[in-house]
Amino acid sequence: MKIEEYRNRFPIIKRGMNYQATCGIGILPDVGVQAIEDVKGTSTEIPEVNFDNFLNAHEELKAEFAKIINAEPGEIAIVPSTSAAACRILNSLDYEKRNKIVVSALSFPGISFACHAQQKRGAKISFVPSPQKIGSPVDYDNLRPGPADYEKSIDEKTILVVLTGTCYRTGFRQDKLREIVKIAHDKGAYVFIDDGQLSGHFVEDVKGSNVDFLASTTYKYLLCPTGNAFLYVKEKLVEKLESLDRGWFSGEDFWDSFPYWLEDNGHHPLSKTANRFELGVPRLPLDYISLPVLKMINEIGVKNIENYTKCLLDYYFQRITEDGYEGFETKSPYNREQRSHLTIKVPEAQRVAVKLRKYNTAVEPSGEEVIRIAPHFYNIKEEIDELLINLRRTLQE
Ligand SMILES: Cc1ncc(COP(=O)(O)O)c(C=O)c1O
Repeated sequence: MKIEEYRNRFPIIKRGMNYQATCGIGILPDVGVQAIEDVKGTSTEIPEVNFDNFLNAHEELKAEFAKIINAEPGEIAIVPSTSAAACRILNSLDYEKRNKIVVSALSFPGISFACHAQQKRGAKISFVPSPQKIGSPVDYDNLRPGPADYEKSIDEKTILVVLTGTCYRTGFRQDKLREIVKIAHDKGAYVFIDDGQLSGHFVEDVKGSNVDFLASTTYKYLLCPTGNAFLYVKEKLVEKLESLDRGWFSGEDFWDSFPYWLEDNGHHPLSKTANRFELGVPRLPLDYISLPVLKMINEIGVKNIENYTKCLLDYYFQRITEDGYEGFETKSPYNREQRSHLTIKVPEAQRVAVKLRKYNTAVEPSGEEVIRIAPHFYNIKEEIDELLINLRRTLQE
């Protein structure tokens, strides 16, 4: 099936919505809607009847995400949010010998917030590269840190480097990940990457990049409902890390041995897989709904989605910079390898986004200065033209 044909699988698109706000929240395809119906159908039955079915979906979902990032299923945990994923790793580290956490200034604020909390456990935060004091607004628009910027902060005291695959605000995509990982590893530090703005539309190959940890939301380009996030932990590190967060699903063979844990005095072994980073009963209906969605993404192939998205973004840039739309200013990189969504500077961005809805057009504002435009494989060039026309109209109103 041609990639453009998949747009017919999205009820929101079929209703005539020009949806380009995927950097905020993605939309559910028909297979997800059908799965919701299935869940609804089971809700009047005895829960036990469907429990195993749902639990299988939980495991299968990990395998589908593993395919997306070139990992193994045992390296994936499903947790409630990216922030929770970051906390699982941060709470697994010991800050006695090495205590520095190097945090990209481009990180989603929730992730740097989680890092800062580790100061209570002895960690020191180095915010890179940040011309501002922590607490003052970061000038995201002008930040494009590369390996040399990270090199200045990473040293023998560094335990973890926290990166973001794409800056949620400007769409700047870190295209020098491999180099930065090498710099960190040469100094003996681990690397955590938040790929919430990339997974599902740009290729992330954890074996190729050699990152140690990766987290991603499910509700953006992975097109699943909210409530889950994936955590990848490199196989050889899984058994080394014992998070302070744990529950009965973190233990080995919990199904068989759980009743005897009291007798173990809390010494029961943690799971040998990334399951050790899960705590209690997963959000099983959500896993069931998400599974066919990820299967669909794997059927299309993320490489194909990336190539398609890059062409749409190229077209945007051409329209904005060459075709008479000079009035628009973008804060996103011109280099196609360094961008995964687009921004346009507008006055009163929140109001502009609301007004665009009148034209059945959805974009995502960020602060009051920019709207973010994030096409996915369900968008076509004609919708780009349409969005720019509607934006011009809205600004003139
Ligand atoms: C890059 C990035 N990371 C994390 C998040 C939030 O993730 P979660 O809600 O799963 O903690 C966002 C939300 O926009 C984001 O853009």
